[in-house]
This record gives sequence, structure tokens and C-alpha cells, in this order.
Amino acid sequence: WPAQATLISEINALKRERDAVILAHNYMTPEIFHGVGDYVGDSLGLAKEAARSDARVIVQAGVHFMAETSKILSPDKMVLIPDLRAGCSLAASITGADVRLIKQRHPGLPVVTYVNTTADVKAETDICCTSANAVQVVEWAAREWGVDRVILIPDEFLARNVAAQTTVGIIAWKGRCEVHERFTADDIAEMRAAYPGAEILAHPECPEDVLAASDFAGSTAAMTDYVMARKPRQVVLITECSMASNIKGDVPDVNFIGPCNMCPHMKRITLENIRDCLLKLQFEVTVPEDMIEKGRLAVQRMIDLPP
Ligand code: 13P
Ligand code: SF4
Repeated sequence: WPAQATLISEINALKRERDAVILAHNYMTPEIFHGVGDYVGDSLGLAKEAARSDARVIVQAGVHFMAETSKILSPDKMVLIPDLRAGCSLAASITGADVRLIKQRHPGLPVVTYVNTTADVKAETDICCTSANAVQVVEWAAREWGVDRVILIPDEFLARNVAAQTTVGIIAWKGRCEVHERFTADDIAEMRAAYPGAEILAHPECPEDVLAASDFAGSTAAMTDYVMARKPRQVVLITECSMASNIKGDVPDVNFIGPCNMCPHMKRITLENIRDCLLKLQFEVTVPEDMIEKGRLAVQRMIDLPP
């Protein structure tokens, strides 16, 4: 694709000129993921990289809550997102005011919040988690606070899936990922019938009967590691469609089959708007200072937990 190749070299030259780094989530399209991403990974990996990077500008090739997380961790850097409309159904499901009400109803319990939330929610949070470390974080919070229940919000399915793996009681919210909530146990049964040898990997934002019927549950990075390490002959990734497209090339003997769903928010990010973002230094993501202070404590606590 000559047009794509031109855009990719334009972006890579602009990155050097602007002293910018591109943090690309695993759900970016392959031309972004492979062509211009300086760091690619899951939500946890991107947050860690935002904290570590010494570039002057961070371009978040992902959704808005990820850019806010980068700003919270790197308040002195300019954080840009190529399209401000790149949102998330989970982040939109809850506000800081909702969290204050939940805390009033459950005084003394720690608030564990999925990183897929806005900065005002993070500012009300004791510690953040991602799908890669949710069980570890919940158990840490219960121990630190000396309680047997924690608040884990806003993803209803992640909360149920964590509850199935720990003795800590979970108080949940009703948020859902619009991409993963659509997978059903029937999808899995159909795949099992059509491809009896296939290994089925699902994201923890899926309903619990989907995970129960799958062979493995993990974050996007955990799914990648699983495929790279085990190289199954046939594999089904119950998640966003770009996941399979991005890792296919590295494991040519693995046959990727089965259903996937597209995240319309992630798909708002394109090579064109990344180029414009670097060219015009748009669209800057800012977070009020008081929210940065409070939110950073919650995100940093998560990052500081041992691996
Ligand atoms: P992870 O990459 O952390 O698994 O999260 C998936 C997701 O839905 C991010 O929007
Ligand atoms: Fe949000 Fe789901 Fe899209 Fe991730 S995949 S950004 S959780 S809507």
C-alpha cells in the first residue's frame, strides 16, 4: 500500500522532529501497531511506558481514558490523542459522583477501579487495576485495608470473573464493554463443534459463561503471550478483531479462526489522524491538577505492585 507507506514514513519523521513517542494499544490496526507504534501493549503496559518515557510528547494511539492515564503519570508532558471522540463504554458508565455515593454506602472499604475510567473516577479511587492484575490488586487492597470485601468498579463482568478467583467479597457496578459483552456461550459452543482442536482464549470483560467455556482468560498482552509461547495449531481470540491481525505475522503456523468484534472507539484512530496530530500538535488531553494528584496515587500504587 504505497499511500500507507508514505504516511508511515511521514509519521516516523514527525515523531523525531517533535520528540514524540506513540503508545499503541493492541486493538490498533496493523499499520498503526506495526508501522508507527513505539510501544505496543495492553492497558497495563501502556501505563507503565507512559510513566517511564522521557519523550516531550506522548501520542496515545488508543482511547481517551488511556490518554488521561498518561497525563496523570506524566503531567509535564504534552499528551495528544488523534481523535477526541475515541471513548469507551466502560469509562462512560460511571462518574466521580457515582463513586462518592458508592463509598457512602460502603464506608471503610477500599475502592479498586479498572483503568478504563475517566480521571474524575480515578481521583476517587484507592488503587487502579487492569484485566492483567485485577485479582492481585483486589487481594492486595483487602489485605492492606484489613477487610474481607472491596469495591471493584465499573465492569460488571470483570468483577464477576475476579469474584470467581478469590475469596475476597466484591461489590460491583453495572458497566460493560460494548465489544466483549456481545460474545455468548453459544459462540463458543459453535466454535467447539466446528473446530474441535482449537484453543479458545477470551478477554475477562466477557460474560462469565463465555469464560467458563473457554480454555484461557487474560488481558490482550496475556493472550499474545499465550499464542507466542504455545503456538496452537488453531486458535480463537474472543476479543477485538485487530488482536489476531496484529500477531498473525509472528506465528505463521497458527491458524486464527472464529468470531471477533470491532471496537468503534479504537477504530477512530487512523494513520491520517496520527499524522495530523503530530503535524498540528492536536488534540491535547489535559486533566485538572487536583485530579492528577489524587489519580496518580491510585495508578502509581498499581504500577508499584510487584509483577
Ligand atoms: P487490556 O489491553 O488491558 O486487556 O484491555 C482491553 C481493553 O478493552 C482496553 O480498552
Ligand atoms: Fe472500551 Fe471495550 Fe472499546 Fe476497550 S474494547 S475501549 S473496554 S469499549
